Order: sequence, then structure tokens, then C-alpha cells
Amino acid sequence: MNIQYFEDYNVMSKKAADIVASEIKARETMVLGLPTGSTPLGMYSNLIDMNKAGKIDFSKITTFNLDEYYPIKRNHPQSYYKFMFDNFFCGINIVAENINIPNGEVDDAILESMEYEKKLESAGGLDLMVLGLGPNGHIGFNEPNDSLVSGTHVATLTQSTIEANRRFFNSIDEVPTLALTMGMGSILKAKKILMLASGKNKSEIFKKILEEKIETVNPSSFLHLHRDVIVLTDIEV
Ligand code: F6R
Repeated sequence: MNIQYFEDYNVMSKKAADIVASEIKARETMVLGLPTGSTPLGMYSNLIDMNKAGKIDFSKITTFNLDEYYPIKRNHPQSYYKFMFDNFFCGINIVAENINIPNGEVDDAILESMEYEKKLESAGGLDLMVLGLGPNGHIGFNEPNDSLVSGTHVATLTQSTIEANRRFFNSIDEVPTLALTMGMGSILKAKKILMLASGKNKSEIFKKILEEKIETVNPSSFLHLHRDVIVLTDIEV
């Protein structure tokens, strides 16, 4: 795990965008895994600027988002689908058909999970997976647990995540209790992983990561099993 520390969130975000840009430039086509959340916003804004300035081209890039609430309408203000279009896809020259986000509108969530995993495999797998770090060590909706599911699956949100997400909804009853998420196995199959860890509320879990133990109670610790992980952080330890 190659960990790089930054004093400033903006400098960290620029570095993240530079890493994504150099991966894009290194190949003709690319399969890119993407997260939502507040952490990657700076990176997205830098990538939009680079695309507008003609420095990178997204026209041959295929994206797979990490997760989505279930059930949720795509046009719901809090859907990850809407988040991605509002904060990233609207600003770049990506081809709409190349965007993949788990569909929170389907009737059969298990089938959707299986098909999403298959689609990812038939696209050739992820060249680069960008991740955020949850305050309890969650990655996507892979929450701390006795065991973790390897592939894309339907996950039950923990009470702490429901409460953390409550601020985005009108009431706690509106927060979806399920989600569709890539599993840690889907993520670890990526050729390269870039994790962004930002925010004081993550310093405890970040210290845990530094212990290099693999624990299902800290899904992010599984990243130690991958041979090419870059972590960019503004967390002081
Ligand atoms: C995002 C996701 C989550 C977030 C994590 C950190 O798709 O699945 O794992 O990366 O909750 O969120 P922020 O960046 O808001 O602190």
C-alpha cells in the first residue's frame, strides 16, 4: 500500500485527478470504477477542468459505479445515479452508454447484482477503481461484519450508516435500508486501486488500516491484499 499524505484537501484532489488522468492517457480504452460521497468531489471537479481544457478524453472510457441505494428512483435527489450526473458526468465527454451504475429501480435486486457483476467481467474488469473510505471502514456498502460478500450483492445498511445518511433525506424513515454494492472481491479484482481518505472523523479507522491487519470488521483492511493500491489522505495520524 503506497500511502501519500497531504496537508490540503485541494492538493490531494489534484493529485487524485492527475493519477486518473495518467491512467487514462496510458491506454486507448479504460474501465474505471467510481465512488460517490463528499471525498471525490474535488477530484471530479479537477477532472472536469482537465477534460474541458482538452487534456483528457473520456470518450473511450467505460465507468462502473461502486454502489447505489435500493430501492431508489434514479431521479431521486439522493440517488447515486443523480449524484454522478450532477457532479461528474454532466461535465465530461463520456458516452452515456458507457456509464454503468447499479439500478436501484429494478424489481429484482439480486438479479441486478448478478447481472452487474457479469457486465463488469464482460467489460474486461476494472483497470482502475477509485474508492472513498467510510468512517467505520466501510467501502461501498461493504459494512463491518462477521463475514463479507465477495461479489456485487444486496447489502443491508448498518444503523450507523442509516443515521449518517439521514442528513441527506427528509426523515430517517426515508433513508433506504438496502443497497446494491460491489463486494470486496469485485473491488480487489481491479488492476489498480486508488483510495482517497479524507476527514477528521476517519482518523481512528485510518490508524487501524496502518496496523496492516485484515479484519472483516474493517472492510478497508482488505485492500492490504492487493498489490497495487495508492492511498491519498489528508488525515493526520
Ligand atoms: C461511495 C461509497 C462510500 C463512501 C464513504 C465515504 O460510493 O460507497 O463508501 O466512499 O462513505 O464517504 P464520504 O466521502 O462522503 O466521506
